[in-house]
Amino acid sequence: MSIRLVGILVGLFFVATVLLWSLVPGVVTVVGQGFLVEETAEREFHLDPKHVEFQHDGVLGTWDYAQLQRGYKVYKEVCAACHGLELVAFRNLAQLGYSEGQVKAEAATWQVPGIDPNTGEATMREAEPTDHFPSPYPNDVAARAANNGKIPPDLSLITKARHHGTDYVYSLLTGYTDASAYVNEDGERLASVFPEALPQPGNYFNPYYSGLNIGMAPPLVVDNQVTFDDGTTATVSQMSQDIAAFLTWTAEPTLVERKQTGWPVLGFLLFATVLAWFAKKQVWSNVKGKRAKHREA
Ligand code: HEC
Repeated sequence: MSIRLVGILVGLFFVATVLLWSLVPGVVTVVGQGFLVEETAEREFHLDPKHVEFQHDGVLGTWDYAQLQRGYKVYKEVCAACHGLELVAFRNLAQLGYSEGQVKAEAATWQVPGIDPNTGEATMREAEPTDHFPSPYPNDVAARAANNGKIPPDLSLITKARHHGTDYVYSLLTGYTDASAYVNEDGERLASVFPEALPQPGNYFNPYYSGLNIGMAPPLVVDNQVTFDDGTTATVSQMSQDIAAFLTWTAEPTLVERKQTGWPVLGFLLFATVLAWFAKKQVWSNVKGKRAKHREA
């Protein structure tokens, strides 16, 4: 056997080993996920978020300021009782179309922790535009104690922290339903297949929540729970969309600018490409001309 053949065989052996090495774990995972993982209530009954259209969607999306202002009102009058918004400052509200005076007046309607200038004691004071939205609880222990052992998360980044966050918030708020009558797409009844997955006291069934039972009572339950200043009818669905849009803004206030900067960049690249094309023609024109002459000669 020639040495070259041996070399090829040894090489093939190594390639085959490496391929198997990388293939086997993958196959095991795929097979495992398909057949071996046990069926759980979450796997069988959890729902992906519903799709909702928003003006800020897509590459040409823009904020719907009226909607963001309505969403802020829903936050203030409903969600703020339990959820903080600690990454947002009152002055950021100016981006929603409020004037400086309005922002100041709005901030003053909130109380934030402060210090008494005379005694040094902890106290509450009116918020300034530079303050951030306060957490409704002094600490996690208090938050837990007030909510059956669950902590209401800060909502500043929640639409980034969940898959399809905007749709998720909308779906969660409109997704509460009666667990005992709940049937999934395959017609299976939760109460018959997984009776242990029915909500315990202090929990509420919601198929859009990862664990199916959430420690938050439905916060938006009746139409006109919030009165919108712009005359929009405050159905539960409308309020849920508006707060979802507002929480998209809190999580990424520069979303629209980010999309808009893309266009000038693309335009510039296109322009640069055209320039480069002409430059190339210019630079090579002589060379090609000479070659053509050579051939003639
Ligand atoms: C009475 C208190 C209370 C109110 C009012 C309330 N929530 Fe909650 N919320 C909670 C608690 C408690 C949790 C944590 C639940 C858990 O961990 O099971 C929670 C969790 C959440 C979550 C996180 C779900 C997840 O995927 O982890 C979102 C989003 C949310 N609330 C949005 C809202 C919005 C929007 C409003 C206003 C329309 C609101 N909440 C009003 C108590 C409240």
